[in-house]
Amino acid sequence: MTFIEWNKNTLVDVEKIDNQHKEMVDIINELYDSMSIISKERVVELFHGLLEDLKYHFFTEEDYMKKYKYPGYISHKLEHDRFIRNFAEYIIKLENDEVKFDVDILNSFKNWFTNHLELNDKKCGKFIKEKESECA
Ligand SMILES: [Fe+2]
Ligand SMILES: [Fe+2]
Repeated sequence: MTFIEWNKNTLVDVEKIDNQHKEMVDIINELYDSMSIISKERVVELFHGLLEDLKYHFFTEEDYMKKYKYPGYISHKLEHDRFIRNFAEYIIKLENDEVKFDVDILNSFKNWFTNHLELNDKKCGKFIKEKESECA
């Protein structure tokens, strides 16, 4: 079974955002599949890459929100900022052997991603889509 399912319910219907989500979901799913054989060094490396992907992705969403004056911008951005901070702290702890890499971190990523998608990204995606069709 796939760890994070990807189907039409996962889509926010803005192509650029969906593609970025899919890329990150793929990374997490691959990590999940290789969890028992992967080295800590490789996990750290992958997480650093994922952190950069996330920053770029959040920047993309925030750019859309600013462009179209999305009313929920501030609270949505706060969630992004908080997640980046927590994830960056986790990576440092992992590098320093203060925490272990296990399924818990993948589960928290999955939970955060799923909740954030349902409660924030989909709403924002609908708004962007409407604005883009007005401009077309
Ligand atoms: Fe978001
Ligand atoms: Fe997102």
